[in-house]
Amino acid sequence: MANSKTLIIYFSRTGRTRRLALRLAQLLDADIEEIECRRYRLGLFGWWRFLRAGFNSIKGNLPRIGQLRHTPADYDLVVLGTPIWTSYPCLPMRALLDARPDMPGRIAGFLTYGGQSEPDKAFDMMAEMLGQPIKHRLAIMTEDGKLPDMDAKAARFADILESEA
Ligand SMILES: Cc1cc2nc3c(=O)[nH]c(=O)nc-3n(C[C@H](O)[C@H](O)[C@H](O)COP(=O)(O)O)c2cc1C
Repeated sequence: MANSKTLIIYFSRTGRTRRLALRLAQLLDADIEEIECRRYRLGLFGWWRFLRAGFNSIKGNLPRIGQLRHTPADYDLVVLGTPIWTSYPCLPMRALLDARPDMPGRIAGFLTYGGQSEPDKAFDMMAEMLGQPIKHRLAIMTEDGKLPDMDAKAARFADILESEA
């Protein structure tokens, strides 16, 4: 649909999910927003923050996040992107969904992960928190820190989303 508006909302700590988010934004001609979360910024004490992320993820201790600059309900489609943390969506994404933001009827999801978890479990948790289904899902497993065939997988995913608009 020519005038369909899409918003991508994602979090990324080490940049992989960000790369995929930026590629999808290009392909879908979408607005894009990264969830701001000071607690899990990459930087000083990186290793300590990594351990704390794992511990808090298991415990479900949600961090404070910045307010979104975009209004998801103004869009036809929102695409949510997250890394997997301890088999769940990352904590900043869970904090966003826990706040129950108004969303449009169409939600899609993408994630990157290390290969130790089942992506559908993380997508299902997001859908449950949203109270609505996530029909279209793209999961890319990292290999040596890279995302194999990212461009081709992102293009296929974008085609499907656009064909259903
Ligand atoms: C705290 C933490 C926990 C993680 N837990 C898992 C996990 O349970 N299963 C998995 O497959 N990958 C896990 N990973 C790996 C990430 O999902 C993977 O490296 C992802 O691509 C990182 O995305 P990013 O670069 O956008 O932050 C974990 C990473 C972190 C930081």
